[in-house]
Amino acid sequence: MEVATISFDRFNVLQDEQAQARIREARAKLGDKAVLLCHHYQRADVYQHADLTGDSLKLAKLASETDAEYIVFCGVHFMAEVADILSSDKQIAILPDLAAGCSMADMANLAKVERCWRELSEVLGTPDEHITPVTYINSAADLKAFCGEHGGIVCTSTNAPTILDWAFGQREKVLFFPDQHLGRWTGFKKGIPLEDMHVWDPDLEYGGLTPEQIKSAKILLWKGHCSVHQMFQESHIRRWRMQHPEGRVISHPESNLEVCRNSDYVGSTEFIINTIKAGPDNTRWLVGTELNLVNRLAEEEKPRGVIVEFMAPTVCMCSTMQRIDPQHLAWTLENLLEGTVVNRIEVPPHEAEMAKVALDRMLAVS
Ligand code: 13P
Ligand code: SF4
Repeated sequence: MEVATISFDRFNVLQDEQAQARIREARAKLGDKAVLLCHHYQRADVYQHADLTGDSLKLAKLASETDAEYIVFCGVHFMAEVADILSSDKQIAILPDLAAGCSMADMANLAKVERCWRELSEVLGTPDEHITPVTYINSAADLKAFCGEHGGIVCTSTNAPTILDWAFGQREKVLFFPDQHLGRWTGFKKGIPLEDMHVWDPDLEYGGLTPEQIKSAKILLWKGHCSVHQMFQESHIRRWRMQHPEGRVISHPESNLEVCRNSDYVGSTEFIINTIKAGPDNTRWLVGTELNLVNRLAEEEKPRGVIVEFMAPTVCMCSTMQRIDPQHLAWTLENLLEGTVVNRIEVPPHEAEMAKVALDRMLAVS
């Protein structure tokens, strides 16, 4: 018998407190059948319901380890895809609002990466012999599959240095997409000169590069960025340090090179949390990452005299992850209670198989 989907219209009108109560009730009834995985950037009114939290790497590992029938992903689209790829065929990955995408992930697509590969082959001969494609996990599943098929790998902001070593162990050059900043910072920390890293603009022929630039490059950096982390500027750090010379600055590597260079610490969201929590009492921090996480850290650390401040003067949260609100979460969970799966994220089998090759390479070395 076909079960009808409960319409979202009935949830859209709920007050936040009503939605919260419905989430708690549905969670209790679903028990171990559903697990709620939540990225650290998730808004507080959703984050409070998480069973497990983490950055992209930790969540990918958790998704591969859970045996819950339903993996409800409070994050963005590519994260739910990774959960689908790394979980068993019997498990179901769900994204409570399909509009929760990642603007950086959208800056690369398969057609443009394949064109890039073709153009590289005209200059270098067979690219598979010279270049390791490395995709940041913030990318669509078909790009992970491309890396799987071409001897490449996936990385996250936690393991990018290890993955870059692996990539150069395979071939002499790396094509890094879609985040130029993570690629540049990781290469820079490895001692690769900036003039050996060229930006590949996918909207220009040959990425806008000359054959000589392509031949001499160690890393080709895809012209993509995170709309949240691009807001942080070196001038924010300079001004803050004048007022708080004793303070410490910590940034996410999706920030630009000058921000990273002028920070005391650079690392993934999990690294940022752990570093501040392990730091001494009564310290002051300037943090260059997403606002929901910074606000949460500021509240949690206040009792021990730790002051946590946000780097940019403007509000910058991940507006797409923000789409997962209590109303969508309540709607998703109540449908599951009725036996209906809404917003399933299902990667086509061939794509999933090749994407898993690239993800498994990553998990094996990190
Ligand atoms: P991490 O989760 O690896 O810190 O990356 C941050 C991010 O922007 C996720 O989209
Ligand atoms: Fe994408 Fe940036 Fe949001 Fe992360 S913070 S999901 S990279 S838009």
